[in-house]
Order: sequence, then structure tokens, then C-alpha cells
Amino acid sequence: MAINWFPGHMHKARKDIARIMSEVDVVIEVLDARIPYSSENPLVPNLRGTTPCIKLLNKADLADPEITSVWVRHMEKEQGVKALPVSARQPAQIRQLLPMCRELVADRNTEARNIQAMIMGIPNVGKSTLINLLSGRKIAKTGDEAGVTKAQQRIRLDERIVLTDTPGFLWPKLTPPECGYRLAATGAIKDTAFAYDDVAMFLAGYLGKRYPQAVQGRYGIDPVPDEDVALLEAVGRARACLGRGGHVDFDKVSALLVNELRSGLLGPISLETPDMIEKEVADAQRAAEIKAQQKAERDAARRARARKNR
Ligand code: G4P
Repeated sequence: MAINWFPGHMHKARKDIARIMSEVDVVIEVLDARIPYSSENPLVPNLRGTTPCIKLLNKADLADPEITSVWVRHMEKEQGVKALPVSARQPAQIRQLLPMCRELVADRNTEARNIQAMIMGIPNVGKSTLINLLSGRKIAKTGDEAGVTKAQQRIRLDERIVLTDTPGFLWPKLTPPECGYRLAATGAIKDTAFAYDDVAMFLAGYLGKRYPQAVQGRYGIDPVPDEDVALLEAVGRARACLGRGGHVDFDKVSALLVNELRSGLLGPISLETPDMIEKEVADAQRAAEIKAQQKAERDAARRARARKNR
């Protein structure tokens, strides 16, 4: 699914973050536990360099705990990275962040000064909710739209740790194309930016294969079709999302499925695993190479034609 962002804002965010990164002791990257890869900003790994990083897998209450554990192990293979599944619904989990920060920066000579932490996250991963919980007060939310100037916020979390919010707007992954569907399904992309039925189709195909019990439990369908249209149709009938002549109204059932997934009514569900991502990234790379090759061939043919006509 294609999503458009503004190159100018991307460039500015890159410059602003690069500028402050040298003063940062630890990066706190907030991700959506249901889509830990898709909800990452593509700049962060590069800009972070070797700065220690805590990946907060937020909304863990909505994610499949087994898959979340797989992600934690996968992420912690990287040097200097710790992953912590949390839910804003369980504030005690979030307080674990503070000792984890102190532990991660142990060799950065911070004994005589404050530990500088920077929090980053694409919109809607729950960054503001977490900042409020960590600071124990309601911090004004500013500039979450692309292009809106953001007031730099510095928040003291305890006697040693000072938290800075990211300057600028962070956008999610744009490729592989599956990321777009997952961001839309979880509500990370505004509903006006995509068609519900496209996203519901993607979701239905995935749920039918990976979470048939969840679909059966919620909608009482037995057996659960593993094909997208058949599954949507079955949910539509189970929930009387019907239009004229008793046909399933696909717009209605699409909105129902997406909204019920978002609010956790289907139970804890994760939409991606490291293995799936590895395959999708390889497929996208192959597709890009084929496209580049085809373009090179077309250009060569055009040049040959031009030479012949001279
Ligand atoms: P942001 O700053 O990253 O843009 O995100 P924000 O904190 O505004 O959170 C986005 C939505 O995600 C909010 O819901 C918030 O309540 C919800 N949320 C945050 N953390 C968690 C979590 O750990 N679990 C669950 N289930 N939800 C979480 P909203 O409906 O947009 O607003 P609200 O009416 O709940 O405030």
C-alpha cells in the first residue's frame, strides 16, 4: 500500500535528530508490539549508531505474547539493544524502564551528570501516554502532524534521568508494502489515507491463516475460511452486515473487522514476525531489482532507437 510523506520534513527530521544524537546517552524507541518492524522509523537505526537503545514494545496487551517474546529475542541480538514489552494499561511495567536505562549507560561516564535519554516513536504508538505515565503528569502534546513545529520538551524522570522528546515528526516504514497494511490495520495511519476494504482484505487473509481460533471465538464461524473474501463474507453474515437483497455489505464488514482488531476484541494478535519480515524484505528487494533492470533495458532500447534515427 502506497503512503506519501513529505521529503522536506523527512530531511529536516534527519538533520535535527543527527544534531542532538551526540548528546544522547540512551535512545528509547517506542514501537507498537503488534507491528514492531512496521512501526519503526526507518531513520532511527542509522541515526542511533552505537548509542544504547531500549525498544519499548508498547500496547503489549494487544499483541500475541508468544510472538512478542520472539521479537524481544530477535531485537536483543543487536549489540546495545534491550527490548521491553509494556502496556500503558500496566504502569508498573513502565517503571522498569528507569533501572534499564541506568544499566545500559553504565559505561558512559554519567556518574557526575544527568543521563540524557531521547524518546522516539511514530505517531500513535503511545509515546505521549508513556511520557505522561513516566513523568507522573500530563505533558502537552504538540506538533504530531508532519510539518508542525514541535516545542522541545525536557522532562526529569528521576534524580538522574532527563528525557527529551524527539525533534520533528517521525514517519513509519514505507516498504515492504505489507507494512502499510499493518500500519493501517492497527490505526497508526489515519483512516482517511486508505480504503478500509483493502486493509480488511489483507487482515482477513492473515487472520484466516494465523488466527483461525480467534476468528471462530469472536464470530462463531466454523470452519474459518482461510481465504480473504470468504472469511469477510462469513464475518459479514455472522454480524448481519447485509445490504440490499441480503448480500454482504463489504464496506460495513471491513470497518467492523478493522475496528474490532484495533480495540482488542479478537484477543491479543500480532501482525508480523521476524521470519515474515525477512521474507517480505527479500521479496521487495527482488521486485525493486527487477524493476530497475526493466527500466535499464527500456532506457537502452530508447537510446538505441535514437541512435538509429540520427
Ligand atoms: P502518540 O503520542 O504516540 O501519538 O500516542 P498516544 O499516546 O496519543 O496514544 C495513541 C492511542 O493509543 C491512545 O488511544 C492511547 O490511549 C492508546 N494507547 C497507548 N498506549 C497503549 C497501550 O499500552 N495499550 C493500549 N491498548 N492502548 C494504548 P486513543 O483511543 O487515540 O485515545 P484515548 O481516548 O485512549 O486517550
